[in-house]
Amino acid sequence: MSSTAASAPAVHATITIPGTNKTASLPLLSGTLGPQVADIRKLQAQAGIFTFDPGYGETASCESKITYIDGDEGVLLYRGYPITQLAEKSTFLEVAYLLLFGELPTEAQFKDFSHGITMHSMLHEQIRRFWEGFRRDAHPMAVLCGVVGAMSAFYPESVNINDPREREISAFRLIAKIPTITAWAYKYSIGQPFMYPRNDLSYAENFLYMMNAVPPEPYKKNPILERAMDRILILHADHEQNASTSTVRLAGSTGANPFACVAAGIAALWGPAHGGANEAVLKMLAEIGDKKHIKTFISEVKDKNSHTKLMGFGHRVYKNYDPRAKIMQQTCYEVLEELGIKDEPLLDLAMELEKIALEDDYFVSRKLYPNVDFYSGIILKAMGFPTTMFTPLFALARTTGWISQWMEMIADPQNRIGRPRQLYTGAPQRDYVDIARRG
Ligand code: ACO
Repeated sequence: MSSTAASAPAVHATITIPGTNKTASLPLLSGTLGPQVADIRKLQAQAGIFTFDPGYGETASCESKITYIDGDEGVLLYRGYPITQLAEKSTFLEVAYLLLFGELPTEAQFKDFSHGITMHSMLHEQIRRFWEGFRRDAHPMAVLCGVVGAMSAFYPESVNINDPREREISAFRLIAKIPTITAWAYKYSIGQPFMYPRNDLSYAENFLYMMNAVPPEPYKKNPILERAMDRILILHADHEQNASTSTVRLAGSTGANPFACVAAGIAALWGPAHGGANEAVLKMLAEIGDKKHIKTFISEVKDKNSHTKLMGFGHRVYKNYDPRAKIMQQTCYEVLEELGIKDEPLLDLAMELEKIALEDDYFVSRKLYPNVDFYSGIILKAMGFPTTMFTPLFALARTTGWISQWMEMIADPQNRIGRPRQLYTGAPQRDYVDIARRG
């Protein structure tokens, strides 16, 4: 049987609750790709039970047409297009259009879209003053979170989330301004003047310009680095219902404005188990320091009591390989060659670590493979980015995915407030005892 989730399915799974005469008939929904999913929306009404799924690994929280992952086959599709083809042939702005609107643009549509994004890249001058309130050593993710959240104070009409035009304007503003906010977070941390965006540069090149240029020097463009940056942005643009995207959707399900929702996504991305992993990979490589220490490090990772993880390895969904990691590894070689970096000790160390881990039964049996972050940190370091900027860069790219998912959710008639339940294991009901009579 094949049906879309929207159409009435003919096949049901049945659950019978032992010791009762209760039965639930769960419709099996089929998407265009991937396994069927059991629709449990009537489970409690029919059977008096609900489901337990910490981490939501077995739960589809929404219907989506944006991104598809097959974790066993190492497949990642944006709107049906394989990530490898997009990384090779497309540009980040074209991918942004695709994610937002569902189709690749015609030349005229792309011209309009690029113009719309380029024309919104400046920040309101008053937003600039926020920076004076941040400490110089503030983590740029903290700055991103604060500034993006505060944008709703400048665009109060963005609270009209039921107006499709307002939603689109907010999406344009976010995609256009996030490179400026990210680059300024960096410039502030090193005490250099903010560079204003340049409309004659591509999205990726303009970001590199705002990061690296200084007023007294002419800026030298580098097409290889521009292409590498564009590819990094494409690879990070969306990844279906990951932790930060689910956070954006959960916040959005309450009717919160898009800037607040994306700020929530930035906060979720910051953690080392998610977007913070690329920063953590470099820290880990620096701590290992030398190939001769790899064995000891791997033993530590395998020791359950150590809480040490091999950062950049493992993924909730990919249990074969992360297709983004392969493209990232290739890009890594191109960037190092372009920059004339012949021997990069961190890359040598990473490759040796990867080789040893991929032959070790601990990682093989748990299906742990390098993820996108294993190599991205090395490229970014070679391009001159400090480690604290790795996760902000990820946030820059993912802003497009977050806002596309948010737009899809708001337009979805099935959207309702996200409100998971719990398996309560606390004290049963008991009576209050006066403080003098306790203990
Ligand atoms: N190093 C060592 N052991 C690991 C690792 C790792 N990186 N990842 C998972 N494991 C182990 C777990 O300890 C567990 O072992 P057990 O079965 O003996 O208890 C087993 O592999 C299964 O792992 P889970 O924790 O169930 O996997 P989960 O899907 O919950 O976690 C995650 C996925 C968070 C990505 C995890 O692999 C991890 O922390 N990796 C390192 C951080 C990282 O690189 N994050 C980036 C993810 S990609 C992204 O966000 C862009």
